[in-house]
Amino acid sequence: MEVFIFALLTLTSLVYYYYKKSFQYWEKKGVAQIKPSFPFGNIENPMTSKGGTVMNLADLHKQFKAKGEKIGGIYAGATPMLLIVDPEWVKNIVSKDFNYFNSHAAVFDEKDEPLEAHLFNLEGARWKDMRVKMTPTFTSGKMKMMFDILLVCGNQLEEFIDSTKKDLDIKEILACFTTDVIGSCAFGLECNSFKNPNAEFRSHGRKLFESSLKFRLRNVLTMISPTLVKSLKLHFTDKCSSKFFRGVVKDTFEYRKSKNVTRNDFMQLLINMEQTAKENNKSTYSIDEMAAQAFVFFLAGFETSSTTMTFCLYELAHHQDIQDKLRKEINETIKKHGGKLTYDAIMDMKYMEQVINETLRMYPPVHTLPRLCTQTYTLPNGSTIEKGTNVFISLIGLQRDEEYFPEPNKFNPDRFSDENRRNITPYTFLPFGEGPRICIGLRFGMMQTKVGLSLILKNYKVSPHESLSYPMEFDNQSVILSSKGKIMLKHERV
Ligand code: HEM
Repeated sequence: MEVFIFALLTLTSLVYYYYKKSFQYWEKKGVAQIKPSFPFGNIENPMTSKGGTVMNLADLHKQFKAKGEKIGGIYAGATPMLLIVDPEWVKNIVSKDFNYFNSHAAVFDEKDEPLEAHLFNLEGARWKDMRVKMTPTFTSGKMKMMFDILLVCGNQLEEFIDSTKKDLDIKEILACFTTDVIGSCAFGLECNSFKNPNAEFRSHGRKLFESSLKFRLRNVLTMISPTLVKSLKLHFTDKCSSKFFRGVVKDTFEYRKSKNVTRNDFMQLLINMEQTAKENNKSTYSIDEMAAQAFVFFLAGFETSSTTMTFCLYELAHHQDIQDKLRKEINETIKKHGGKLTYDAIMDMKYMEQVINETLRMYPPVHTLPRLCTQTYTLPNGSTIEKGTNVFISLIGLQRDEEYFPEPNKFNPDRFSDENRRNITPYTFLPFGEGPRICIGLRFGMMQTKVGLSLILKNYKVSPHESLSYPMEFDNQSVILSSKGKIMLKHERV
């Protein structure tokens, strides 16, 4: 017993001194810090229902800003991380000194989970090579080519809303729409999420974005000890979803090749990329490498756009004047373009762009930009950010900062009018990120968001259901920014 008590006391003292020493890290470097506490540092307890990084980082951002700090040192457990507060510093990290911060700090084990070796997670030369090859996939010409596929899914969205007499569970409806769009554009398959809510793509989509305790622990452990995450094989993607997506890509590849089928979609561009590499005697891509890239379109493409539309309709339901103005623009532009919703009509909707930008300002789906310091970096005071340090930029913190956006919690699309937009401080509005790692799917995301909103608003007036509160309460544990609970809207034909 005595030995046990002695061992326990020794261990407790060791842990205590380890934490005490660790918590001095930033102060010693002359970087301001906010008092961390044992055992989670500045990060909220992932085991409690409150624990999550969304508002946690936004709140820390606010605290550093109030102290007049440009950057701030925080701790995940005892591990030091850096929070960037000042826009000039955001510029340094994402653009100017990109070579020092070129990684998204992803933790994955390609051998055990090949699907995770995708563009968002890759770094270094492999990321660069893949980014260069995939960039032509997202030109405006390619977007135009895919527009018809989008409209087919849009028709199903319209039919569904026309046939729904009840109030709209808009978050789920829009997730079905974008699942169908990405399923069709990235995988070449009809997903039928409206006809069958348990269709495989939709089920896997739900599973990937649901916030489980395992997910929250993984999230926190990734910041504290990436090595532990790897050795415990805590993958972001579960085995069942991985098997499903890899199977779909393999079958589609084989089918198209054997039957000589071509289609205007992302899958075709991946097939062409592989063929070009073969013809030029360059190393080709394995099916798993291709599957990983198609998978990231799904992962990064459906929930981001569906939540953008959801947040937008939520605000429009609470601001009927803005909704009416937007509906007027949609109907007049369609009329101007021969009575059809075409790619050119969508591009012609200026106020729509303002409304979406204001939505993305208040509700950036990717609420935090992560970066990893990949080479030791010297700060102006002469101290350093060590290689391996995680660096974060809280987009909610920046985009709801009243210095840059007066009355930051007010939904006001006029902030993005031509004359006002030029007054926005650079690097304070970056919902798609910035620099070489800016969202590759920006055009596609904007296009599907505009299509979904146009199809709903041209025919329907939406208003808030009695169950909705304003302002919105966020799900603090969601992978991407999400409302707590459903967003129910009333709809009536105009
Ligand atoms: C409203 C919709 C969307 C938003 C708000 C959004 C936002 C973002 C953000 C913030 C990043 C990180 C950028 C950075 O680190 O600087 C990102 C990266 C990425 N996004 Fe999007 N995204 C959207 C739609 C899409 C779509 C539709 C696709 C694909 C079809 C897509 C594919 C990607 C990929 C592959 C990356 C990683 C790029 C790289 O690391 O090189 N995104 N997105």
